[in-house]
Amino acid sequence: MEVAAAMGRGLKVYPRIPVLQGRVLANCFLEPSTRTASSFHSAMLKLGGDVIHLGPDNSSVKKGETLEDTIRMMQCYSDVIVLRSPVQGAADVAASVSPGFPIINAGDGGGEHPTQALLDLFTIHQNFGGSLRESLTITLLGDLKYGRTVHSLAQLMAHFPNFKLNLVSPPNLRMPDEYLRLLDAAKCRYDVLDKLEPVLAQTDVLYQTRVQKERFTDEQEYLRSKGLFIVSKKTLEQMKSTSIVMHPLPRVDELTADCDDNPRAKYFEQPKNGVLLRMALLAGVLGGDVGVKQ
Ligand code: ASP
Ligand code: CP
Repeated sequence: MEVAAAMGRGLKVYPRIPVLQGRVLANCFLEPSTRTASSFHSAMLKLGGDVIHLGPDNSSVKKGETLEDTIRMMQCYSDVIVLRSPVQGAADVAASVSPGFPIINAGDGGGEHPTQALLDLFTIHQNFGGSLRESLTITLLGDLKYGRTVHSLAQLMAHFPNFKLNLVSPPNLRMPDEYLRLLDAAKCRYDVLDKLEPVLAQTDVLYQTRVQKERFTDEQEYLRSKGLFIVSKKTLEQMKSTSIVMHPLPRVDELTADCDDNPRAKYFEQPKNGVLLRMALLAGVLGGDVGVKQ
């Protein structure tokens, strides 16, 4: 996060921080993406590197090529692979066929989305005085079962005993036990709830998520689950003046547009922070000299 902040200061002075000149990023997105693919792409360009892109429709994945073979190929052409896949565990599979080669998980099915969690934490860092030492109440809301961003975020939060977590979801979309066990092991303070109202006024960070339609096997269950938690201007009015509202995006109907001009809304700041965080990550992974004073 310190390097990401330094990248931000650097970009105010220079259009590029060319520490990865000659290096190639393979952006392999086997599932749709607007932010993650574009921000990794932008980050690599701002670091002076080049990018090749692979998508589900322009690759031989469509002909039935396996993930393992796809990764073996892409490492012939690049120095780092960013991988998004609809399959949970895909990043681990990719890493297992490419020992020593950097693979960055950009979302694996209903599993994890670790770089999103890093940029989310960076956004919290930037909005609460550039430090993560404050005791903050963080409320994760919505689809905590299939939402991979909150799985990764909960794990990051486990490093901050000064944070209190509220995990608010419909009963059928609770945070899976494996993540609760991690929070328990880290002695994190958290509550599992199915109502937002009791915790709204104490919340410093409200992190809303989309119900992950594409992960449901039962369409009726999806229809019953969506629309139960809608964050609107009225919700924000019940929150502290210093609180912030985040969302990894895309949003569907769970976060209304009448929140957008509220100073608490930070979900258009998150994608900007995502470029800086991913610049820091790529420079770190590829061993580039960051070249800006921290
Ligand atoms: N864009 C995020 C993800 O890929 C969140 C979402 O799609 O709802 O996990
Ligand atoms: N936040 C996020 O991962 O967005 P995309 O799915 O558009 O990449």
